[in-house]
Amino acid sequence: MKGIILAGGRATRLRPLTKVITKQLLPVYNKPMIYYPIETLIGAGIKEILIIVAPEHAGNFMNMLGSGRDFDAKFSYEIQDEPRGLADAFIVGENFIGKDNVTLVLGDNIFDHDFTEHIKSFKKGAAVFAKEVHDPERFGVVEFDKNGKALSIEEKPAKPKSNYAVVGIYSYDNKVIEYAKSLKPSARGEIEITDLNNVYLKKGELQVNIVDGIWEDAGTFDSLLRAGNIMAEKAKTNVPRHSGLSRIKKK
Ligand code: G1P
Repeated sequence: MKGIILAGGRATRLRPLTKVITKQLLPVYNKPMIYYPIETLIGAGIKEILIIVAPEHAGNFMNMLGSGRDFDAKFSYEIQDEPRGLADAFIVGENFIGKDNVTLVLGDNIFDHDFTEHIKSFKKGAAVFAKEVHDPERFGVVEFDKNGKALSIEEKPAKPKSNYAVVGIYSYDNKVIEYAKSLKPSARGEIEITDLNNVYLKKGELQVNIVDGIWEDAGTFDSLLRAGNIMAEKAKTNVPRHSGLSRIKKK
């Protein structure tokens, strides 16, 4: 299993914070935001990580993160010239993925959940995670039948069919590259991860798991502040995060 962190985009919702600094390098309490998804992958045992960045910020990411040696991991970088959508990560990352399976984490998604068992047991198809939220219209939303089987996933629906948001960590088999290439851009001009998940859903190959523990998409002022406060609280109470903090070597 290889890992990809998508840290492209222009983050216009966070202007003026993101006018000069890219969203994923903004502080979340005592660390740059991107440390959290990195720790999520490393904590789950994934050491080969591709970081996809926007051209104007590539140098900052490399200065901040380097080769990955400080994290006991190996980082590679690719540039996404235009924000073409989340599913584009598998096209930009095609060479890096090679013949392997891949887990994508969004660069602004902060978890406190141990994904080790999930990653170890993943074989084929696709696996996504959902969490109950009070504002599902901000996210991809998954609808379940009474036996917990996923029926549909819709991207930011005006009338959500459930309160379960699809969170920003996704595992796929190698077919994801071919499926991503077959997607047509949505109304917002992007190839959507939700459309990719629906390809797997229609084939009966999509598994939906529930995330317990913390999840924040730190892409708005309020969620960024919330994520910082949550991490400050955890740091003060000395509760270790699930995701392998202790494994990161200090400089
Ligand atoms: C993206 C996805 C959405 C998902 C969310 C999780 O939304 O399109 O399906 O629920 O990430 O953070 P974005 O934040 O790019 O608008």
